[in-house]
Amino acid sequence: MLTQEKILDALRGVKDPELGMSLVELGMIRNIRIDGSRVSLDVILTIQGCPLKVKIQEDVEKAIRALGAEEVNIRFGSMTDEERAALSARLRQQRAGAGSAPKPGAPLSPLLAEDSKTQFIAIASGKGGVGKSTVTVNLAVAMAREGKKVGIIDADIYGFSVPDMMGIEQGPVVIDKTILPVERFGVKVMSMAFFVRDNAPVIWRGPMLGKMLRNFFTEVHWDELDYMLLDLPPGTGDVALDVHQLIPQSKEIIVTTPHATAAFVAARAGNMALHTKHEILGVVENMSWYACSACGKKDYVFGRGGGEKLAKELGTELLAQIPLGAPDNDINDPDFSPSVYAPDTETGRIYAELARRIIQKTPAEVKN
Ligand SMILES: Nc1ncnc2c1ncn2[C@@H]1O[C@H](COP(=O)(O)OP(=O)(O)OP(=O)(O)O)[C@@H](O)[C@H]1O
Ligand SMILES: [Mg+2]
Repeated sequence: MLTQEKILDALRGVKDPELGMSLVELGMIRNIRIDGSRVSLDVILTIQGCPLKVKIQEDVEKAIRALGAEEVNIRFGSMTDEERAALSARLRQQRAGAGSAPKPGAPLSPLLAEDSKTQFIAIASGKGGVGKSTVTVNLAVAMAREGKKVGIIDADIYGFSVPDMMGIEQGPVVIDKTILPVERFGVKVMSMAFFVRDNAPVIWRGPMLGKMLRNFFTEVHWDELDYMLLDLPPGTGDVALDVHQLIPQSKEIIVTTPHATAAFVAARAGNMALHTKHEILGVVENMSWYACSACGKKDYVFGRGGGEKLAKELGTELLAQIPLGAPDNDINDPDFSPSVYAPDTETGRIYAELARRIIQKTPAEVKN
């Protein structure tokens, strides 16, 4: 027989997809009523128009039907401002460490704590336009395809491009002062782009800009991650230095084009990583060749050997060579993105190989 307890128990296993916490624990399940094999209940969403409403509805229905219910009626509501503030405070406390108020000097987020299992990987280059963002996005998606929990911080505060490249159109859900990253292709994304759009939440505007990178840790609820990739702005400027200071344990991938001078410039970024004792995982050479679509012959448009040369200079390895060519994605596909290569394409396979290599080199140990 159906009882309230049984239903609550079943719903304890259903998580809010963004917060990673049980709907019951979040106080989102209310007014369970049972009439024979018919169940009705209220599900209180964090915000009205929650983008994940459909997913939550499916999960709740499935869990209750599994108990033998034949009909499930869900009425959706949304939290009051007070409830959202309380939830935000709770998430904040969770991020600061269990139970107590954060101590002075405590890490900004459990992701940055000493015992954090999250592997940080910064994607750097000496100069702009070599493909850092493209590599970040595709490596992240490829790692997620391998079953890893992956996040991206678009640390290019002024030149953000990650959301557009991934085809992200919606902004993040904001619960009081807590921001939930936007998920796309299984990757959680945070970018300044979300906060300069027309309907941007005001809290991060203006003077907060300089502290952006920190905010990406303190104000964002990341949940647990195996890997956090940071897409750095070009060169060795302030943000790159900030990353070095904020995340001393971060490892780095250096992106270059095959041209000898590009590799020479990229060496500067590499030397900075060495100087700050960031371990360099290796070099990715992008735009390595153009394969003729008719005959398959490789044309080395931007020269050859830059990646190899740079890897040698930095005492590291050449991790991958990625050919020229934009993804052939269909703009009418609901999963469209301008820059993510499908897994069954040549470049998609190269990224899959790169992802496996990185996972092997830096195993993450987050529990599932
Ligand atoms: N392998 C590739 N084949 C074709 N186009 C590419 C490739 N890699 C990158 N691009 C394109 O080159 C341009 C620059 O790439 P991207 O934005 O990833 O570089 P970046 O190093 O992040 O640049 P910035 O320094 O401005 O942040 C983009 O338009 C991107 O779509
Ligand atoms: Mg970029």
